[in-house]
Parts: sequence; structure tokens; C-alpha cells
Amino acid sequence: MILAGGIGSRMNSPELPKQYMKIDNEPIIIKTVKNFEDFGSFRAGVICCPVDWVEYTKSLLFEYGISSECVFVIPGGKNRNSSVKNGCRFFTENFNFTDSDVILTHDAVRPFINKKIIKDNISAVNEFGAANTVMPVYDSIIRSSTGDFFTEHLKRSELFRVQTPQSFRLCELNSLIKSLTEEELEKYTDVASIFADRGYRVKLVEGSDYNIKITTPFDLAVAKSIIENKP
Ligand code: CTP
Repeated sequence: MILAGGIGSRMNSPELPKQYMKIDNEPIIIKTVKNFEDFGSFRAGVICCPVDWVEYTKSLLFEYGISSECVFVIPGGKNRNSSVKNGCRFFTENFNFTDSDVILTHDAVRPFINKKIIKDNISAVNEFGAANTVMPVYDSIIRSSTGDFFTEHLKRSELFRVQTPQSFRLCELNSLIKSLTEEELEKYTDVASIFADRGYRVKLVEGSDYNIKITTPFDLAVAKSIIENKP
């Protein structure tokens, strides 16, 4: 499930949501989808995008040669978790799935996902039930409850940066996301945290420094530099 339902307000590009901006002559969302297509062993993919961009997204898939037989485009929701909920509803209404079917949820704006991360997510779900892609924190992190004075030093060795994919058994993700109130859907910034809060074990899978989320114009510059310098 590719999450592309945001408008990218921090990118300051109101005309074109950041997932459609081009790097290396290709829209970011296409780069992301191609990485999953290249992995190969998926039954189906769903892209949750802003409702006004559904037809445009379909036309991009066509233009860049991505099969419309197994990649579907649907409207996302008003927050990221609502987009996940719409994607789950699409899968459950259109496919017969079993208790063991695995779903990977991935940000459309992380185009540098690699095969190892995808493979490790699938293995972790098969073994532990849920997976979250993370990286160690390199800077020291402190907490400030007011935003202007120091509250607390946090132990760096216990802190991780969350990337995506976050991966689950589809039936569990579907029932969990359906059980959330509108406030809960709004409050959580990612789905793995909801699983953890509900007492599920979530296995941490190692991500990559390249697997950045393109959020700001600075990230766009980093993405271009990654493309120019990637080994
Ligand atoms: N996303 C989504 N549905 C939403 C909001 C976000 O599917 N209603 C997706 C985004 O398209 C993005 C991913 O979730 O691929 C990560 O979110 P973020 O980087 O915060 O994207 P935006 O919400 O678009 O950015 P901003 O917060 O700057 O507006």
C-alpha cells in the first residue's frame, strides 16, 4: 500500500503535491512504485492519493508503463491513517485474502526503498506479526515539554528514527484500523505505534540512510544528490 494522500504542505509547492515532483526525470511516486514492482512477488498494490489526483495518478502509471492489472489507485483520507483505512477497505472488498497475507504500507515520498528492506519486512511479519523499519539516531536527542527549555535527556541507544515500510498481517491491520475513532486516526502519526500501544509485538527492521522521506525542499536537494552519487 503506497500512501500518497498528502498535500506536502512543508514542501511549499501548492500546485503540485511533492509525490508528483520529478527527480531524475521521473515523478517521485513512480520511482517508489517501481521499486515494489521490481521486487516482483506482490499480488496487488494500491496507491492512496488525494481525491483530485486519482485520474492524474492513473495516467502517470500508464505513461511510465506500470501495469494497471495489479496496481490500483484510490482516494486517500484526510490524514495518513485514514488513507491506510481506505486502502485496507479496498483490499478487503476486492480480494479474498487469508489470515497469513502480509501488507507493506509505504510512504510514496520514500523513493529509495530497497529490496533488502522489503524482504526483511515480509520475513519479520511472517515470524513476529508486525514490522517497523527504523534507523539508529545519530544526534543526541533531548525532550522539551515547553519547546524553549530543556526538560530531559534521552538515552540515545534506546532511540530510533521511524521509516517505512511498516508491515502487518492484512486482516489484523484491517480490524485494528477499523476500530479506531476519528480522534485516534488523527492523533497517531504512524500505524506501527498503534499496534505497539495495543500490545502487539512489533519487530524492528533495519532501514537505510538512503530511505529518506522527502518532506522539505532541502530533502529534494538531498534526493537529487543521492541519485547523482549513488554507487
Ligand atoms: N499521506 C497520506 N494521506 C494523508 C496524508 C499523508 O497518504 N492524508 C502520505 C503522504 O502522501 C506521504 C506520507 O503519508 O507520502 C508521509 O506523510 P508526510 O510526509 O507528512 O506527507 P504530507 O502530509 O503530504 O506532508 P506535509 O505534512 O508537509 O503536508
